[in-house]
This record gives sequence, structure tokens and C-alpha cells, in this order.
Amino acid sequence: MSLGLSYLTLTRLRERAGSDAVRLPIPGFYAIGGPDAAEVFYNAARFDRQGVLPGPVKKTLFGENGIHGLDGRPHQARKGLFLAVNTPESVARLLELTGAAWHAALRHRRQLVLFDEAARVLTAAACGWAGAPIPAAGVDELARNLVAMVDGFATLGPRHVLARLARRRTELWAGHVIDDVRRGNLRPPSGSATAIIAADPTLDRATAAVELLNVVRPTVAVSWMIAYAAHALHTMPQWRRRLADGDPGDAGDFADEVRRMYPFTPFLAARVRTGFRWHDLDFPADATVLLDVYGIDHDPRVFPNPDVFDPDRYRQRPPGLFDLIPQGAGDRETGHRCPGEPVTRAIIEQTSTILARSTYQMPPQDLTINLRRIPARPASGVRITPVRPWP
Ligand code: HEM
Repeated sequence: MSLGLSYLTLTRLRERAGSDAVRLPIPGFYAIGGPDAAEVFYNAARFDRQGVLPGPVKKTLFGENGIHGLDGRPHQARKGLFLAVNTPESVARLLELTGAAWHAALRHRRQLVLFDEAARVLTAAACGWAGAPIPAAGVDELARNLVAMVDGFATLGPRHVLARLARRRTELWAGHVIDDVRRGNLRPPSGSATAIIAADPTLDRATAAVELLNVVRPTVAVSWMIAYAAHALHTMPQWRRRLADGDPGDAGDFADEVRRMYPFTPFLAARVRTGFRWHDLDFPADATVLLDVYGIDHDPRVFPNPDVFDPDRYRQRPPGLFDLIPQGAGDRETGHRCPGEPVTRAIIEQTSTILARSTYQMPPQDLTINLRRIPARPASGVRITPVRPWP
């Protein structure tokens, strides 16, 4: 059962009201969008995250007591853990693992569903990178659970039940990894996410497991972006040639346009600290405000011709801190913006280039992207038949 929401719901409500700020039909809830909204939303003097995540989202996507719901100093301290594993050196280590895994996958498989294969490749690579060992025989099951946690957070039906079960199972796994390190039975590489998180004395076992999953799960969630990148290469083959020719700037712009254009995060929520007025609307203290992330990434005032896939737009105007916001906005180090953007971008760049340089066929399939399904994805998962792997 869906909650009746789509990626366009908040934009439609704002359009109907003729304003970038609207009161929602649920008491105490508001939505904001438009060119200036992200800057307001990421002003920590106006908003915090305390108590904002609904139970069903914590029981599936994020877990209890994780970084997403923290504010102020505790948030800053926790953020350091995640920034430490998103350095250029750390990202390069991850790419070595993903590159080798993709090569093997495209060489040995006759036909594959790219989304599912990406989830397996990224699960094995993310666990290796994070220093959280998973035997080869366990990769498939862990991949399915990590995907399920993301896939089922925004629905009430069977996908949500699977997501809850998946969180219980993955927290069990991550808790054992933390125990093993703390008891001296496992020595993860220094600087790895497991080493850093397990060594933090402020994190109890359960919270450490939640935060380890906050590294591994979203890394695997880049599978959505890989399926979207393949969709873009299929529908705009000129980009196959450009990426295959290897201008590194092209790959970065392509990755940014995939992140902007295709639906993943619909909106974000925060709580008003002290009441304020914006666009002729009063936002009282304690109100919940939704930032229309998808709407801002498709707002013609921010991105001219927003429905055209055009990576070259970033050459003319590099993205600012508050406009290209598929992974949040503002300062990554001090605010809530996603610390995993370098990882996400790098994986999309690498995989898109590998795909552009490989020869494969796409059998007839349903590539529809349903904006009423959150998170959306190409219906077929993108089926490909590799013919010749990249050299
Ligand atoms: C936060 C999206 C990949 C770790 C976020 C936020 C979004 C987001 C929208 C919320 C920002 C906010 O609350 O203001 C995505 C997408 C990804 C992705 C679409 C790729 C498909 C990653 C990766 C990692 C990561 C690869 C880690 C390696 C986190 C963490 C937070 C976060 C720890 C919480 C940050 C905070 O509250 O300060 N992400 N993310 N994400 N992301 Fe990502």
C-alpha cells in the first residue's frame, strides 16, 4: 500500500497555492521549495532535527539514535566519523574494490539485472572497504537486506514489513562485527569505518551498529543511481561516446545530472526551533517543515529546462551549496548535508564510464520510472546482456 505520496506532491501543492511556502493538510506540517528554500532549511538557528523522524523510518531506513536525528555538538562529534571515511584516499580504496568487482561481473555473466548486480558488487566492496568482513556466500543475502531497508521505508505494505525485518537482521550482523572488534577478535584496517566506529567510546553497541550500517547501507543504495545512469546512457547514447572518450570533467557532470534528474530523495524534514515568517506564512515553533528536494532539483528557476538531461549545464554554472541538493544542501562538515557525496559521485562516474566502454545489449524491457513509487527505479532494474567487457 502506498502512502499516496509522489515525487511531485509537494510541488503540486505549492503550485496550487501559488507560493513557495504552504501549510499542509496535516496539522503542524508545512512544505517549502523554490530557489531560496534550502538556505532557510539548513539554517541551524531556525531548524533542528530533534524528534522529527517518524518511527517507521527509524525502524527501517535509519535506525534508532543515529546521526540523522542529532543536533549541535553531539551531531558535530558524530559527523567526524563519517567525514573520516569520505576522504579522497578512502574513496580511492573503495573504487579499487568496485572496479575489480565490476570487471568480473561483466566478464562472466551472460545476462544480468544491473540494479541487482550493483547491489551485490557494492555490498561486497562496501564491507571490504568498511573493514566489516562478509563471506562471499553471505553477500547476496546482505545485499537483499540492505536494499530492502531503503526500498520499504516509505510504504505501508509488504515492502515495509520486509524493510523492518531487514533492519533487524542487518543490525544483528553489524552488532556482531562491533562486538568482534571490541573483544579483540577482529582487527579492521586502521582508518576504516568499522575501526573508527568501534573505537568511539561514546557509542554503545546498538548505536555503533546503526552507524556502521549508516556507512554500508547508503553505499549500497548507490545501486539506484547506477540503474539510473544506465537508463541515461540508453536514452541519450551521445553520452556513451563522451564518457567512453574519457574527459574526466564529463563523467563528473554526468554523475551530477543523474543525481539531479532522477528521483531518489523526495523531501527532507526538520523542526522549527523558534517561529519565523517566510513568504507571507508564519512557521510556529515545533512545526515540522518538509523541504521539497525533488522539486528544487527540478525547479526551472534553479535549473533552466529542468526536464532535459544536460550535464553541460554545470560547465556554464557550477552548482552552488543550496541548489543541486539530491543529497542535502549547505556545508557538509557542519550541517546535515550527506557526507557520502564524494563516494556517490565517484561510484557513478566509475560505473558509468565502465558501462560506456563496454559493449552490451538491452533486451526489450519495461524501463518505466514510476514517480508514485518511493523510492522509484526503472521497473525492469535495467537488464543487460554483456557482449564484450571494457578492456
Ligand atoms: C545524509 C542522500 C549516499 C551517509 C543524507 C541525506 C540525504 C542523503 C538526502 C540527508 C541530508 C539531511 O538530512 O539534511 C544520499 C543519497 C545517496 C547517499 C541519494 C546515494 C544514493 C551516502 C553514502 C554515505 C552516506 C555513500 C556514506 C558512505 C550519510 C550520512 C548522513 C546522510 C551518515 C547523515 C548526515 C547528517 O545527518 O549529518 N544522505 N546519500 N550517504 N548520508 Fe547520504
